[in-house]
Amino acid sequence: MSGIFEESALNGMTLRNRIIRSATWEGMCDSSGASTPQLEKCYQDLAEGEVGLIITGYAFVRGDGRQYPRKMGLDKDALEGPMRRLTDRVHKAGGRICVQLVHAGGQTTSAMAGRQPLAPSAVKAEQFDEMPAPMSLDDIQNVVLAFGHAAGRAKAWGFDSVQLHAAHGYLINQFLSPHTNLRSDDYGGPVANRARFLMETYRGVREAVGSSYPVLVKLNGSDFLEGGLSPDDAVTVAGMLDREGIDAIEVSGGTPASGDRTPVRRKIKRRDQEGYNLGLVPDIREKVRCPVMVVGGFRSYDLLEEVLEKGEVDYVSLARPFIREPNLVRRWRQGNTTRARCISCNKCFKPGFKGEGIYCVVEREEREKSG
Ligand SMILES: Cc1cc2nc3c(=O)[nH]c(=O)nc-3n(C[C@H](O)[C@H](O)[C@H](O)COP(=O)(O)O)c2cc1C
Ligand code: SF4
Repeated sequence: MSGIFEESALNGMTLRNRIIRSATWEGMCDSSGASTPQLEKCYQDLAEGEVGLIITGYAFVRGDGRQYPRKMGLDKDALEGPMRRLTDRVHKAGGRICVQLVHAGGQTTSAMAGRQPLAPSAVKAEQFDEMPAPMSLDDIQNVVLAFGHAAGRAKAWGFDSVQLHAAHGYLINQFLSPHTNLRSDDYGGPVANRARFLMETYRGVREAVGSSYPVLVKLNGSDFLEGGLSPDDAVTVAGMLDREGIDAIEVSGGTPASGDRTPVRRKIKRRDQEGYNLGLVPDIREKVRCPVMVVGGFRSYDLLEEVLEKGEVDYVSLARPFIREPNLVRRWRQGNTTRARCISCNKCFKPGFKGEGIYCVVEREEREKSG
């Protein structure tokens, strides 16, 4: 049982409360993937707003793992200067920062990836037209190495932890899911085989950062998709990661192919629509010893308080509410505990796609109306 504002530690990383900023692509890096003053300001605001842990937007570990515009990169040593400025700025503002490592796999285009997208099998991703190329064993080993190198850079450049993005239909999730993984070699078939790429990636990352550095994972507790990763298989994968020494599992759910059960659901208006991945947590928690986080639609202070105090989960993660209110945690701590003002409309993606960087469009429209 924990209170929202109780301090804790994850493998030596102290956190001032139990509220996490879940990874949110900001579209604020430059074309090489380097941090910019715009991104520094965004994270400084979150740190000053007293978020317990800021998980960065997804960062590609190799150029062919890119996706949306102005995404963060960790694929080359030349990014060191701007990345160190970013982590310094968060630390000076009293925050903690974890970088999310990703390879987009088939969820991209050759225009963004610079080559035909790679994937476990030739299965098109829902929102992209291009057929990806099935990965050879060499491809697999090289991407595993790229994750390790990226994690080593992250540690050296001052990030307090790393998170593997194994959710939302990206490459690791593509391997986990029977919907996108049709392989008949050691990386396909039964769940232990579909999890092999994730486990090799985890081991490569662990080797790069050592045992006393926090390594987290964002895992779908279900793909909410016919033929996708099932809740039972997700529990098995969580148990495998736990046994190998993962420091925390953040539970999410869905992929862009999951209809109205995507990871970023719209119109969270009532309290009973909040916490839409919470139902996936008990079975995972029963199987693992490591702390568990959950993300998806949390908006009400009293719901966070309830799930933490009842001990249903160890940390609660939010994404969109912090786009509208970077100071949300401080506001709640200071006693104004009204619901987060985000209305879950997803309009914040639009300026990101235009290359401006995300912002709360609703907030800006309201400000402009009121003159
Ligand atoms: C603009 C935007 C960008 C996102 N980028 C990422 C990302 O880079 N990595 C990730 O794991 N999830 C990403 N997400 C999903 C969020 O982390 C989160 O899982 C989802 O929005 C549900 O939480 P919420 O209801 O608190 O927003 C993004 C969501 C939004 C709105
Ligand atoms: S545009 Fe604003 S209100 Fe709409 S989802 Fe994004 S942050 Fe929330």
